[in-house]
Amino acid sequence: MLRIAHRGAKGFEPENTLVSFQKALDMQVDGIELDVHLSADGELMVIHDETIDRTTNGKGFVNALSLRELKAFRINGEHNIPTLRDVFDLVNQDCFINIELKNYDTAEKVVSLIEKYVTKKGWKYDRFLVSSFDWNALQQVAFLNDKIPIGVLTETNLDLALAFAKFIQAKSIHPHFHLLTKENTEQMQEKGLQVFPWTINEVEDIQKIKTFNVNGIITDFPDRI
Ligand code: G3P
Ligand code: CA
Repeated sequence: MLRIAHRGAKGFEPENTLVSFQKALDMQVDGIELDVHLSADGELMVIHDETIDRTTNGKGFVNALSLRELKAFRINGEHNIPTLRDVFDLVNQDCFINIELKNYDTAEKVVSLIEKYVTKKGWKYDRFLVSSFDWNALQQVAFLNDKIPIGVLTETNLDLALAFAKFIQAKSIHPHFHLLTKENTEQMQEKGLQVFPWTINEVEDIQKIKTFNVNGIITDFPDRI
């Protein structure tokens, strides 16, 4: 069962920071999950919200600020917002990167960056897993490069997500863990999909979901898996 660190090791370090990803790597996780938005000048920024208000000492929409402006803000007084490239450059061990596209506009740039790391650095496509609640964004990724592994996120409708995942030949399906049963987990796996539920932090929930034999668990606390 794969251990996937949510926004890095969010239970230990500030989410979506290089220290958080490094902590997850030190914990020998199988994958790290992160979120991307575009800056005003088209850089892929690793941040969950559409604004910087909650996680930094600044205010404003990510897509209204330049890379330079965004880099000047501080997270917990010491860290800055990484770019996706910063995170790729940090990960030099066998660990896949689950990139969650927070909106459609990020799709093309994420595909280009992945292609760059595949062609220039020799990374394999299976080092990446691109997921999103925005299925149009996933369709765009599949259209641009059908070798990039795709994960379909859903919080509400598993049947629809399953149909869409088959349609775009996704690698995995990422349901909110409350949607899962042992039966529907098996059903998805029988259709060739890996099942990666999120975000499971409580030990009791982890134990229960493990009995469904999911393929991996997305968690803030990889040590609890
Ligand atoms: O990718 C799973 C999970 O991260 C989705 O929810 O809000 O934490 O991005 P959120
Ligand atoms: Ca996410």
